Amino acid sequence: MVQISPSMLAADFVELSSALKKLEKSGAEMLHIDVMDGIFVPNLSIGFPVTESLYKHTNIPLDVHLMITKPQLYVEKFAKYAQRISIHYESDCDVRETLRMIKNAGVIPSITIKPATPAEAIFDLLDEVGMVLVMSVEPGFGGQSYIDSATDKIAAIRAECDRRGLEMDIQVDGGINMKTAPIAAKAGANILVAGSAVFNAEDMAQAVRELKAVCEQ
Ligand code: DX5
Ligand code: ZN
Repeated sequence: MVQISPSMLAADFVELSSALKKLEKSGAEMLHIDVMDGIFVPNLSIGFPVTESLYKHTNIPLDVHLMITKPQLYVEKFAKYAQRISIHYESDCDVRETLRMIKNAGVIPSITIKPATPAEAIFDLLDEVGMVLVMSVEPGFGGQSYIDSATDKIAAIRAECDRRGLEMDIQVDGGINMKTAPIAAKAGANILVAGSAVFNAEDMAQAVRELKAVCEQ
């Protein structure tokens, strides 16, 4: 069964507390938090104060996606709040060392790749991580369309993990909806990030349920 990680970016920030309550009852396994610094991506979003408040007010595990240039400067603080932290392969840091910092802080380390980065680029990091996040849109904004080349990358990473006997969460992020969810799941993704598909739905629980169901067919 796939897990759903709704992306907070698509929420109405004035209504965060009611969104959290709905989310807790929605059947979503975690909450995706998109952190942007305006340099690594051309947008600014959530930082420590909002993440800390979310942590204090919910038991849903926080799935932190760092779209920032120097994640090594911030992972230890985010580790206080997160269940898992994704850092970008393309960021300006020693990726292996930063993943180890995350692990040493007791948090699941995750490596993420942008659409232009090939799957093979992270093969030699697979022993360091508990999750790989395949971006299926250019990071920076919600509401974009799924880029098809993500599907083959998910499949290649799943095949490599199977070949090496590695248990791995493979997460896909961007443009996930009722049409693209089963494609990504069939390729080997087991955690689907969904922003607009969940937060723009009339009934969040129904959206989560339907996304899971459509992947089972
Ligand atoms: C994009 C973010 C995504 C985004 C997903 O930079 O990483 O998490 O919010 O939003 P949707 O599901 O609307 O594409
Ligand atoms: Zn994200």
